[in-house]
Amino acid sequence: MPVGKSALQAIAVAWARSQGYTVLGACGSESESRLPFASLHQLLRPVLARARSGSVMMITSVPREAVSGVATPTMKAAVCARYGPPENLRVREVPRPSPKPDEVCVRIRASAVTASDIFIRSARVTARLQVPFRLMMGLLGPRHPIIGFVFSGVVDEVGAAATRFRVGDEVYGCTGFRLGAYAEYRCMVESDSRLHGCLALKPRTLSHEQATAAAYGGLLALQYVDKGAIGPGDEVLVYGASGTSGTLAVQYARSLGARVTGVCSAKNVDLVRSLGADEVLDYTAVDAPPAGVRYALVLDSVGGLKSSRLKVACRRAVAPGGRYVSIDDGDLELSSRRLEQVARLVDAGTLSPVLGATFALDDIVSAHRAVQDGHKRGGVAVTIG
Ligand SMILES: NC(=O)c1ccc[n+]([C@@H]2O[C@H](COP(=O)([O-])OP(=O)(O)OC[C@H]3O[C@@H](n4cnc5c(N)ncnc54)[C@H](OP(=O)(O)O)[C@@H]3O)[C@@H](O)[C@H]2O)c1
Repeated sequence: MPVGKSALQAIAVAWARSQGYTVLGACGSESESRLPFASLHQLLRPVLARARSGSVMMITSVPREAVSGVATPTMKAAVCARYGPPENLRVREVPRPSPKPDEVCVRIRASAVTASDIFIRSARVTARLQVPFRLMMGLLGPRHPIIGFVFSGVVDEVGAAATRFRVGDEVYGCTGFRLGAYAEYRCMVESDSRLHGCLALKPRTLSHEQATAAAYGGLLALQYVDKGAIGPGDEVLVYGASGTSGTLAVQYARSLGARVTGVCSAKNVDLVRSLGADEVLDYTAVDAPPAGVRYALVLDSVGGLKSSRLKVACRRAVAPGGRYVSIDDGDLELSSRRLEQVARLVDAGTLSPVLGATFALDDIVSAHRAVQDGHKRGGVAVTIG
C-alpha cells in the first residue's frame, strides 16, 4: 500500500497491523514526493481491497508514477516483519530501489548469514538491553524489515554523481544500519559510514559466496588483530578459531609473523591447523593454555556470549604489556579501505576465507537455523539470483 511519509502513514501502519496484516516498512527511494490527502484516499481504496486477500501489506513512500498507474519494478527479498524464530523470515516481492545521484545500485549475488543477523532477527538480547535495542532497531520488528548486513554482487546502475564504481564492477561490502542485504538489489552510497555501510571491489579470486565470508570475517579479523599491534615472533592466541572471523584472524596473525595458537573444538582441529595455526587447543578437553606460555595478544573472536574454562584461563595468560581483545569491544568499523586490504590479501593468497555452507534465498530459514546454534564452520552464505 504505497502512501506518503507522514502522520497518515503512521495511521495506515497502525490500522494495517490492527487488521492482522504484516507491514513492511519504507522500501522506496527517499526522493519521492508526498501524496496529497485526496490522492491518498483514492489510491488506498482499491489497494486495500486487493490487500485483504493477502497477508502482507507494504507501506512505503512511492514515486509519482505509481499514482499514474505505471507499475513499480519489484525484486525478491527475505523480509522479517516481526522479531522471532527463523520462520519469521519470508521471501517476498518488494519494490526494487533505484539509485540516488550519489549511490550505486548493486545486483546482489550472495549475502552472508551472520551472528549479527541472528541477533537482529530474534531480538534475543538481555532484559536490560531490550528497550535500547527496540528503540534503535524497531519496536516489534526490525524497522528495516529486509535484514542482512553483508553482500557481494555486481554494480547494476550508477547514480549521476557517483564516481567510484562503474556498471559491471564486482563489489562486496556491508550495508550499515539500514540492512537490506537479503535482497536482489541494494543501493549503496559510495562513501563509508555506520549508516550507509562500506563498499569495495571484491577479491577477484573468490566466488560471491566466499566474498561474503571475506567481507564480514575480514573486517572483524583485521580490525581486532590490529588492536594487538603484534609483530614477528609474538605469541598470539585466537579463541574461537573456527568461526568466520577466527579463521581469518589465525591467517592474518600468521601473515604478520606471529606464532599462533588457535582454540576450537575437536571437530575443527584439522581445519584450524590447515589455516596455519602452530598450536591448536580443544576448549572442550583442555582447561588451560600450556604452563608458562604468555601471549602478546589473546583475541576472543566469538564474543562475550560464548565461554569456557579455557577462555577464562587464557585471559590470565596475557604477557606483561600484551592485550586481551574481545571482538565485541567497540563497534565494527565499516571501512572500504579495510575491505580493499582484505581483497588484496585474499588475491595474494595470504588469506583464504572459509565457507562452511551455502543456501538458496528461498531456503533462508534453514540458513538461519544453521547459524543460530553458534557452531558454524567459517561463514554461511545465501545465493541470490
Ligand atoms: N564489535 C562489533 O561491532 C561486532 C560486529 C559483528 C560481530 N561481532 C561479534 O563477532 C562474533 C564473531 O562472529 P563469527 O561469525 O566470526 O563467529 P561465530 O559464528 O560467533 O563463531 C562460530 C564458531 O564459534 C565456535 N564456538 C562456539 N562456542 C564456542 C566456545 N564456547 N568457545 C570457543 N569456540 C566456540 C564454534 O566452533 P565449535 O562448533 O567447534 O564450538 C564455531 O566454529 C559475533 O558473535 C559477535 O559477537 C562484533
